[in-house]
This record gives sequence, structure tokens and C-alpha cells, in this order.
Amino acid sequence: MSMYTFPENFWWGSAASGPQTEGRVAGDGKGDNIFDYWYEKEPEKFFNQVGPGKASQVYTKYKEDIQLMKQTGHNSFRTSIQWSRLLPNGTGEVNSEAVKFYRNYFAELLANDIEPFINLYHFDMPMPLQTAGGWLNRETVAAYEVYAKTCFELFGDQVKKWFTHNEPIVPVEAGYLYQLHYPEEANMTHAVQVGYHEALASALAIKAYHESKQEGQIGIILNLTPSYPRDENNPADVKAAKIADAFFNRSFLDPAVKGKFPQDLVDLLKEKGMLPEMQENDLQLIRENTVDLLGINYYQPRRIKEKETPKAENPMPEDYFDVYEMPGRKMNPYRGWEIYEKGIYDILMNVRDNYGNIPCFISENGMGVEDEGRFIQADGMIHDDYRIDFVSEHLKFVHQAIQEGANCLGYHMWTCMDNWSWTNAYKNRYGFISVNLAEDGKRIIKKSGYWFKQVADQNGFEE
Ligand code: BG6
Repeated sequence: MSMYTFPENFWWGSAASGPQTEGRVAGDGKGDNIFDYWYEKEPEKFFNQVGPGKASQVYTKYKEDIQLMKQTGHNSFRTSIQWSRLLPNGTGEVNSEAVKFYRNYFAELLANDIEPFINLYHFDMPMPLQTAGGWLNRETVAAYEVYAKTCFELFGDQVKKWFTHNEPIVPVEAGYLYQLHYPEEANMTHAVQVGYHEALASALAIKAYHESKQEGQIGIILNLTPSYPRDENNPADVKAAKIADAFFNRSFLDPAVKGKFPQDLVDLLKEKGMLPEMQENDLQLIRENTVDLLGINYYQPRRIKEKETPKAENPMPEDYFDVYEMPGRKMNPYRGWEIYEKGIYDILMNVRDNYGNIPCFISENGMGVEDEGRFIQADGMIHDDYRIDFVSEHLKFVHQAIQEGANCLGYHMWTCMDNWSWTNAYKNRYGFISVNLAEDGKRIIKKSGYWFKQVADQNGFEE
């Protein structure tokens, strides 16, 4: 038996987002975001045609939910403010109902000793801004800066940990390369511009927050997917993996932490004639406004081999590499993602060695499983032992990394209670707490939730 004990005041909790949990009710004043709009237009693109409208009804059930957070060991919890709830048009008038809701929500968390970690953007572009180009349009960057400042002013007394984006690479990939989210484009020039504007917006929010002199921290949450070459002794595979790393990890990690874009990525985009449109002083702004804290989402590694297949018609990052399906890899078959626990350690070592050991935490890690009703036992509870295994195996590597000097301050699982997962809707369930859609969203803590409470109470676990 070994004991895995974590540093004092370790952050135990989970993460979620506004658009995936809140839902909408009549009179709430929320405006549409791209998912509301897309669902209305093409409901068949969403699993079982379930849209974001109801989500998990956190808007009305948050008090009950916060009690459940307590029962599952949370001392911190991350969600996001919905831009389209606070500013229904993306700019202009503030929705007073939204202010009331978020202030009550955050106050309730604080009253229960759960620190709110608040993210400003989780894939949810307000529709009026999207109509004008969304992140492609420089004006969105300015609108985001105003939105961020509004949030700091309205909620800064309650919130001391802010995040500018969750996984900013996802709008780039899903919206502008691989046609997975609205506006479903496959246009690398647009993708680069979108990513650039997101990075710039982040720097502007960081600047505004630091200038506000509020006593808190501001960071970014990145999904880091370590890039492993098929064969470490094959230079072509190694080179391909490094390029994939530049596209999908360092593209945001470097500007966020080091204040500059990775040179190899810049060279490559220059060669393709795809550098984004920039304005004077942008790069200085990015250089001078880096994050205080890094959130790391980790689900899966990226396995890469040299390019062997023909290139696609349009330019794509995959012009430089192919995805390698490693024989014998362990898979989560429901989500189609590889499970590789050591990846979390490799990321933390990389941050320790190459990013100044900046304070960081695991801001998401988790396992989505379909049809969890199969695992309900006579006690009425879902016995999700696979999730307990998943989390504990990852935590062992987080523990090892901390022993070796990683500045990792917490672990948040995705997610607290089952929530709406974009086009997968409620297909795969991730929560510590189940949500029964057939019974008006009735919540029941899963076995993993009780297990996590013990882990948090003991600040570790024995195994
Ligand atoms: C992360 C996101 O990428 O993974 C979440 O921050 C998302 O919003 C989670 O829900 C799980 O992925 P998915 O696609 O199965 O919902």
C-alpha cells in the first residue's frame, strides 16, 4: 500500500461551463450564442436532438447543486460566465437578471467554502458578434475586452481566480478547421486569424485585470495534448510531432506564459503566406501581459507519425504529419479518446522545465461514458468504478510530478454533474453526480463522488 498525499490547501473540485449547465428560462434575458443558434437551425447535428436550452438547469437548481458539491468534497469549482447572458447583444446593455444570477451563484459557493474559479469564454460566442465575423473580426477582440472589464467590475469582489479562455484552440479546430462546431469552416487562414485574435483578447483581459488592482489572479485554461512521435529514433516522426505540438499546444501556451508565439510555428505560417493580420503594438501587448496561473486540461495524448498520406485539397495542419494509431493503446471507446495516464506527468514536467514552473493546476481531466444506467445497483447509485480508476491513476502521476517539483496546486475533474456536451449533448456522462433528464434533471451522487469526498477530506488516498 502507498499513500498519495497532496500539498496543503490543494484545490479539489471540478469544472463545468455556463453554456453546458445553466439552461434558459423565460424572462432570464439571455441572448443567443452560436450553439443556441446552430441548434435551432440544425437540431439533427446534436445527439438525440437535445439542445442547450435546458442543459442541467443549474440556473434554477444551483443551491441544491452547491450542497451536492459539498457532499462530493469540493473546496473549489470552475464554471464560466456566459457572455450572451451578461451582454445579450455581445456589446452594450448589461442584463440585470444575469448579474443577479451570477452574484447569487458565486455568493452561495463562497458561503459554502467553495472558491469560484471563473472563466470568461467557453466556446460560446454571442450570435450578434458571430454574425459580424466572430473571432475573425478584430472588433470582437475589443468587445471581449469590454466584456471582461464588465465582469471584473461586477464580480471582482467575489471572484479571485479568473480565466480568459477555456481551450482557445477548440474554436480554432472545431469551428474553422474540422467542421465540428458552428460555423463549420475548413479554412486554415481563418483558423490562424481566429487563434491570433483569441490570444490577443486574452492579453487585453490580463492587462485590464492587472490594471484594476484587484487582489486576485488571472490565467488561461489550455487543453495540452502531449505530442508523441511514433518512433523516437525516427527524425521524420520526431519532426512531425514537434510541428503538431507547435500547432496545438505551443500556439497558445507560449504566448500565454512566455509572451511570444513559437518561432517554428511563425516560420511555418510565414512560408505558407498565412500570418494573421496584426496591428502595431499587438506583439508588445502579448509580450507584456502573460498569465499568473495556468489551467491544464488533459484527456488524451496525440500520437504522430511523419506525413504518409496525400495532403488534403485545402491547406491544413495535417499537411505536416499524420495521426498515428498506436497498436495496443488503451481507449475510452465511448469518446474515442486514448487513455494514457502518464501524459499528465509529462505535461507537468514540461511546464516545470520549459515554462518557468509557473503555478498551475489540472483544470480538467475525466472520462465520458455512455449509458451509465447500466451501472446502477440496488442502492440506486451508479457504481462508476471505471471513473474512480481513471481519476486515481491520473492522480498518482500528478502526485509523482509534484514530488519532482511541479508547481501543481490542484485537481479539478470534468465534471461536477452530468452536463450537455456540445454536439454529443448527453451521450457521454462525465459527472460525479448523475442527472436524470427523464425526471426533471434529478441528481444522484455516483460512487466516484463519494470516493472523491474521501480523497479531498484526507488530502490524498491510499492504494
Ligand atoms: C473539454 C471541454 O474539451 O472537454 C468541455 O472544456 C467538454 O467543454 C469536455 O465538455 C469533454 O469533451 P466532450 O466533447 O466529450 O464534451
